[in-house]
Amino acid sequence: MVEISTSILSVEKEKATRTFYDLETAHTDYFHIDVMDGKFVQNNTHELMKEYANTIKQISNIPLDIHLMTYNVKDYIEQYIDLEPNIITFHIESVESKEEAYEIIKFIKENNAKVGISIKPNTKVEQIYEFLPYIHMILVMTVEPGLGGQKLIPDTLEKVKKLKQYIDENNIEIDIEVDGGIKLETAKMAKGVGANIIVSGSYIIKSEDYKKTISELKE
Ligand code: DX5
Ligand code: ZN
Repeated sequence: MVEISTSILSVEKEKATRTFYDLETAHTDYFHIDVMDGKFVQNNTHELMKEYANTIKQISNIPLDIHLMTYNVKDYIEQYIDLEPNIITFHIESVESKEEAYEIIKFIKENNAKVGISIKPNTKVEQIYEFLPYIHMILVMTVEPGLGGQKLIPDTLEKVKKLKQYIDENNIEIDIEVDGGIKLETAKMAKGVGANIIVSGSYIIKSEDYKKTISELKE
């Protein structure tokens, strides 16, 4: 059974609180908060995501899965840590050195959250192997970060397969999350190659029946 992390990027502002209630009732396992700084990716969603995350925190205990698509990672961690997120994920492409990556890993743990590292479609999985023993999740982007509603890039699933093989061969306990363009078909493919947490945004938010959509994605 996989877990579902619903991306709230495409939630309409005027319906936001209602939507979050409905997603909780529909048993999403996480709320996926897509924080973009307008520099690492063109879009800037920070204010809106902060507002949404605050609203969720007030009405729900469902864990927050924070996806930072930002530079100045520590500054953004500080902006969200008061919401006691379950996990904070940063992009390996947004730090200047391995030392900086290890510092961020330590900083997130010191703030009592789990650590995720995300890789963009063109980043090789080998680039993050050394961090795996120290973190809790790898977020494999299945689209270029920056937008919801995009189409999954098929060869990113090869990366998931390779990563799964590596963690199994090396007995590493870690979650593999896929993010971007995930609908029923692509969720099946992602599970088939080893992903155990599925982010889905527009496919869930646009669907008629959240509970049905989420349970189908989980099967
Ligand atoms: C893209 C975000 C994804 C995106 C998922 O940069 O990281 O989480 O919002 O949305 P869909 O499922 O619509 O591709
Ligand atoms: Zn995301």
